Amino acid sequence: MKTSIIHIQDLNEKVLKKLDQQHIPIAFPTETVYGLGAPYDNEATIFNVFVLKGRPLNNPLIVHVASHEMILPLVKDMHEDAKRLMTHFFPGPLTLIMKKSDQVTSLVTAGQNTVGIRMPNHSIALELIKKIGKPMVAPSANISGKPSGTTALDVYEDFQGKIPYIIEGETSEVGIESTIIDTTREPFVILRPGAITKEMIEKVLKKPLASTINNDVVAPGMIHPHYEPDHPLYILRGDDAHIINYVNQKKDALFIGHERFLPFIDIQKRSLGHDTHEMLRFLYHVLRQSNHLDIKEIYTHDVDHEGYMNRLLKASKNQIIDV
Ligand code: TXA
Ligand code: MG
Repeated sequence: MKTSIIHIQDLNEKVLKKLDQQHIPIAFPTETVYGLGAPYDNEATIFNVFVLKGRPLNNPLIVHVASHEMILPLVKDMHEDAKRLMTHFFPGPLTLIMKKSDQVTSLVTAGQNTVGIRMPNHSIALELIKKIGKPMVAPSANISGKPSGTTALDVYEDFQGKIPYIIEGETSEVGIESTIIDTTREPFVILRPGAITKEMIEKVLKKPLASTINNDVVAPGMIHPHYEPDHPLYILRGDDAHIINYVNQKKDALFIGHERFLPFIDIQKRSLGHDTHEMLRFLYHVLRQSNHLDIKEIYTHDVDHEGYMNRLLKASKNQIIDV
């Protein structure tokens, strides 16, 4: 199968009909990461999403909507505070777990009685959902275990020859997956940290979320291996000077990190950007690029951001070195 990177305008009725009838998923951009989408009620296409990603069937999918009206039929017993979060953060990099209605099949929710709902803040994603005319399930567009795709070419790398279309949409602005909040627990709890932080949510709710420290409440998908580059990754913890000194003694290694380190690093290096926003945005892409380099290991440093460190710790299999 030939895989084409296309523009959303090229997705006409005929193409959409073919995808629907032949049960073919489509990759598309969102502001967090690219998604591999299927209409929320087309079980055969959804099943193909699991197969193409190599994703275990016990890992539920997020349902993406293009309007607030699309949400109501999917859920029941919506919490007043969940409504408040939607008003404030939708569209945006936030997923809310709510009680599901009968409209959502158990293939989507992996047999659970809850469903994750998200309204992406990306004009192409919203346009696609509107063209299809119904909510779309979409996991991140990557082979399970690899870093999520944040550019059309990253997605192409994983799904070349496996899906016919990837919709072009530039580099995802946020760069890591949405924050997930379970609104069926009291108090609400973060299942997956992201660009929308605990503080931002508590400010809107005017009350604390449940503590996730020493608490193994996570989204089902978070227990699977994740985001791993091909070469072992180590997180260095310590003063900048100690990190630089440690890295410069390494051979056949790559350093990735904040721009401030780069002038002092003597080995192969890649910048992750000038601030946390850029580091979130470029982390997955740089991890993916490292797979193509002739190196033995990768070094980086820790960053004061929960969502960033959540991904980095998984990518490194928790390998931290104090320097
Ligand atoms: O930013 C995002 O959320 C991206 C873009 C494409 O929208 N999507 C994404 O999907 O990250 P995925 O499938 O890679 O991750 C979804 C996570 C998994 O960890 C899954 O276990 C969790 O959401 N999840 C989905 N439905 C759930 C539910 N009903 N209860 C608890 N966790 C759920
Ligand atoms: Mg994923």
